[in-house]
Amino acid sequence: MPSVVVIGSQWGDEGKGKIVDYLAQKADVVVRYSGGSNAGHTVVVDDVSYKLRLLPSGILYTGKTCFLGNGVVINPGVVLQEIREIKEKGVDISRLLISDRPHVVLPYHTRLDELQEAALGQKKIGTTKGGIGPCYMDKVARTGIRMCDLIDKETFAEKLKIQLDAKNAIITKIYGAEPFDYEQMLKQFLGYADELRLYVTDTGAALEEVFEKGQNVLFEGAQATFLDIDHGTYPYVTSSNPTAANAATGSGVGPRAIDHVVGVVKAYTTRVGEGPFVTELHDTDGPGNEMRETGHEYGTVTGRPRRCGWLDAVIVRTAARLNSIDYLAITRLDILDKMPKIKMCVGYKYRGEAIRHIPASLKVLAQVEPIYEEFDGWLTDISGIRKYEELPLNARKYLERLSEVAGVELGIVSVGAGRKQTIVLKELL
Ligand code: GDP
Ligand code: IMO
Ligand code: MG
Repeated sequence: MPSVVVIGSQWGDEGKGKIVDYLAQKADVVVRYSGGSNAGHTVVVDDVSYKLRLLPSGILYTGKTCFLGNGVVINPGVVLQEIREIKEKGVDISRLLISDRPHVVLPYHTRLDELQEAALGQKKIGTTKGGIGPCYMDKVARTGIRMCDLIDKETFAEKLKIQLDAKNAIITKIYGAEPFDYEQMLKQFLGYADELRLYVTDTGAALEEVFEKGQNVLFEGAQATFLDIDHGTYPYVTSSNPTAANAATGSGVGPRAIDHVVGVVKAYTTRVGEGPFVTELHDTDGPGNEMRETGHEYGTVTGRPRRCGWLDAVIVRTAARLNSIDYLAITRLDILDKMPKIKMCVGYKYRGEAIRHIPASLKVLAQVEPIYEEFDGWLTDISGIRKYEELPLNARKYLERLSEVAGVELGIVSVGAGRKQTIVLKELL
């Protein structure tokens, strides 16, 4: 009964959805454990593209149970819209279960996210403006409204009144913006509660039974290691812990429930939003631009162009330590097919000296210089290759150097968005 956590090793959009969808073939249960609708996981099945924000990527198979665990934050309108859209595409969602513990994202969270970003001006985080940060703020402040509160009419009415009064005061007095109307919000959310109630259960307790039955469990990470509130490039991070340890806390199981951790790594680096990025390329007609255009590197959720740069093996090695990664899943290697020369950052230098770890201080990090190794490209279309030995030698040299610097074995190499475009070096489930 193996259980596998799939996490992002960079700044998000590594292709976690594609890898989870691939591994889900052999899973019984898929669990999302952190983040909210700030995630955008694109999964391509038989040439149909599905953009998932909250629903676990396992939803696309019939017969797999999908959980939204206690660690996520749920915007009811967004999840219900996602459910509607996916049903319209013919997907069966009868096995979806939502924990009774996730915090609910309310319209004042979204409004505060927008207002806080606007107030920060040049110093903005570049959030997805989905209210994720303000919702987690309420969770930590112990003032949040949870799913179990939303589906209980009286509790919700009472908690919403207290919260809305407090939030309206901030919205009007600090930001000079328009307040929300209590009755209108109450009615709208009680309507959502009626639609959501049938999915809500104690998913932690349900997972206990899943483990007792010896079923295969896949934990689907959202966001990524360097967007982690503790380990990322703070404050340019999200407000949760996307790292692997939170797969346990965010789903209601203990750390020993996890057998393997797969770190998804894009074959180059991207980042959307503000914050440090040591290997970023700023060109308009060079390799950075080629990655963005060939790779259609535009955000799934916001449509923003993603910042692009060379693969940073230092952050992958750090991600390996922070998550106990035991296998790497490299994605989008095919996007580099036409590049004659490819660079990989294998170390950092600060004031002329080599440093082994990522500095906490952004001031120091801003002065860090990448140490690059240059590789000859493979200049071959690899999207049809299904066996590792059949990859061009130059592609294998690139992958093997990454594995060496990161100190982690290769588990999967993805050469296209489709399910079949996957080279497996290690069967995990
Ligand atoms: P996630 O947030 O980590 O799930 O990643 P996103 O879905 O936001 O972004 C990854 C994009 O790359 C999606 O459009 C995937 O369909 C696509 N993708 C995943 N793996 C590959 C691959 O190996 N090659 C190519 N060309 N596209 C891929
Ligand atoms: P997936 O799961 C890429 C980034 C935002 C911003 C920062 C904080 O698709 O990989 P937030 O709205 O969370 O408060 O924004 O985090 N961010 C992501 N970037 N992929 C994601 O998710 C992201 N989720 C949040 O762009 O810089
Ligand atoms: Mg994404």
